[in-house]
Amino acid sequence: MKVALLSSLAALAVVPGLCSLSLHESDSPHVLRLGLKRNRFNDPVGRDRRRFKRQTVGVDLYGYSMGGDLYSTNLTVGNPAQRVEVSVDTGSSDLWVVYTYNEVCGAYGARCGSLGTYDPAESSESDTLSDRFSITYGDQSWAEGYYAIDTLEIAEAGLPEVQFGVATASNIDKGILGIGYSTNVASRVIYPNLPEVLAQNNITSSHAYSLWLNRLGEDEGNILFGGVNTAYYVGGLQTLPVIPFNGGYVHLWITLTGLVVESESDDVSKSYENEEFPVVVLLDSGSTLTYLPADIVAEIYNDLDVHFREEEQFGFVPCNSYLEGREDYKVTFSFSGLTIHVPLRELILQDALYYQGDTLHINGEESCVFGIAPSVNFFPILGDTFLRSAYVVFDLDNNEISMAQANFNPGDDHILEIGDGDDSVPGATPVANAVTTATVVLEGSGLSLPPDHTNRPIFPTRTETTASETVHASTTAINDPSLPTETGDSDTSSNLEETDLAVAPRSNPLLVAGVVGVGLLLGL
Ligand SMILES: *[C@@H]1O[C@H](CO)[C@@H](O)[C@H](O)[C@H]1NC(C)=O
Ligand SMILES: *[C@@H]1O[C@H](CO)[C@@H](O)[C@H](O)[C@H]1NC(C)=O
Repeated sequence: MKVALLSSLAALAVVPGLCSLSLHESDSPHVLRLGLKRNRFNDPVGRDRRRFKRQTVGVDLYGYSMGGDLYSTNLTVGNPAQRVEVSVDTGSSDLWVVYTYNEVCGAYGARCGSLGTYDPAESSESDTLSDRFSITYGDQSWAEGYYAIDTLEIAEAGLPEVQFGVATASNIDKGILGIGYSTNVASRVIYPNLPEVLAQNNITSSHAYSLWLNRLGEDEGNILFGGVNTAYYVGGLQTLPVIPFNGGYVHLWITLTGLVVESESDDVSKSYENEEFPVVVLLDSGSTLTYLPADIVAEIYNDLDVHFREEEQFGFVPCNSYLEGREDYKVTFSFSGLTIHVPLRELILQDALYYQGDTLHINGEESCVFGIAPSVNFFPILGDTFLRSAYVVFDLDNNEISMAQANFNPGDDHILEIGDGDDSVPGATPVANAVTTATVVLEGSGLSLPPDHTNRPIFPTRTETTASETVHASTTAINDPSLPTETGDSDTSSNLEETDLAVAPRSNPLLVAGVVGVGLLLGL
C-alpha cells in the first residue's frame, strides 16, 4: 500500500499533470456501463399488510420488499437467455440467481415471475459444479444451492463460462450481484467474479469500476466498469487506501476520520470529536442506510432533532416540516483530508414515508426514516444515503478507493479508461498522510437513550417557544384509526418513544427498507 502511494507521487512528479489523463482517453475505451434502477413500490402500505398476513403461510418470504430499495439491474444467464433482475452489491462478491423451482417462489407475494429465475436445464451451455453455494447477508437474508457455469450477458456484453450461484432455497426472491473482492466469495475455492471476468474478456483493462447513484429521488444511476466518467463529479478524485483485514483485502473498507454538521446560513460548523474516530467503514451499495457507531449517532440525533426508535434502532423525522430552516444543512464526511458533503435533504428517505406512513407519526405528521442509524451487531457502513452524494471509484487491483463529490447535474459524458498497473485511475491524486491505523470494529453496540430523553434540537438554534413546542407536540401524535392493528403484537414497552408516537402495524422498517447486503463470510 505504501509503495503504491509513493510510486504515484513519483509518477506525478515526472509526468506533467494532464498527460496521465489523455493517456487513457481513446475513441473506444475499454469500459462497460451498467444501468441501475432503484425500484419503488406503488402500493407499499398494501404490501405491508400482505406481509403480516403472509406470516400464517407455510413458506416464509423474508422481508417481502428486500431489495426493493436497493439498486438493481437486469442480466441474462444461459442460452437461450433467461432474464433475471438482481440487486447490485459492493458489500458481497457472489452473483447468484433464483432457481426456477426455488420454494420461495411459492410464497405469498413472491415476485419470481416478474424478477425472473434461472433453470439450468433450459440452457444448452449450463454446467453445474459440485461446489455448494451458501451465503448469509448482514440483514439475515440468505440463499443456498450450488454453483453453475453458464453464459452471462450483462449490459450487452456476452461473457462465456461464468461461475455464479443458483439458489435452490432462499428467503428472498431476488438474486444479488456482488462485485466486491473475489476473496470474499462464498465458495471454498475462490473463483473470478464479475469485475475479474470483465477484465479477463478484455471488456475492461482492470478490476475497477465507478459508482454513480445520482440524487435521492432520481432512482437511476450506473456503474462504469473499467472507467471513470468525469462528468459525474466535481473537484478532483482523491485516492485512499483500502483497509486490509488479517493481512488480506476482503471488504471495501476505508477510514472515516471525521464528521461535521454544517450550515452557512446559521453559521454552524460542529465537528464530532468522538473518540470513536477514526472509524473503519464499509462502502456498501447493498445497504439502504448509513450505519455509524452509536455514540456518534446519538450526538447527531440530538443536535439535529432526529427522533429515535430504540426497538428497531433507527431514527426518523417529520417528513414535510423537518427541512424547514435546515435547507442548507449538510453532513460532511472526511477521510484523511478528502471530504464528501451529504446535504441533509439527502438523508431524509422521502419514499420511506410510505412504509412509515402507517407506522409512525410525529405531531400528527407522517415520519420519514433518517439516513444514518446506529451500527448494531455489525460494522459501520456507508450505504446508499452516503453513496448518492459521492462518485466512488473502486480499484480492486490496487486496493484503493478514489472519491469526489457527485455532480447531480452532469453534462455530457467524458469517459476515461482505467488502465492496468499502479495509479491507473485517471486524474486521481492520493490524499496526503492517509490514516490507516483505525481498528475494525466488527460489532457495534445498540443505542439506548435515557428514559427522560426528549429531543433537544441544537441545529438550527430554536427559540425557547419553538423548542418546547417541538418536544411537547410530539406527545400529541395521532393514531390513524383506519389502519389495521391486528398484528397481535401489542406494544407493552414503556419507553418514551412508544408513548410519544402513534404506533400502527409493526413492521421492522429496517427490514422493509432493505438493509445490508454484506456477505458475512470468512468467519469475521
Ligand atoms: C428488468 O426488466 C423488466 C422487464 O423488461 C423490467 O420491467 C424491469 O424494470 C427491469 N429492471 C431493471 C432494474 O431495469
Ligand atoms: C485479451 O487480450 C489479451 C492481450 O491482448 C489476449 O492475450 C487475450 O487473448 C484476450 N482475451 C480475450 C478473451 O479476448
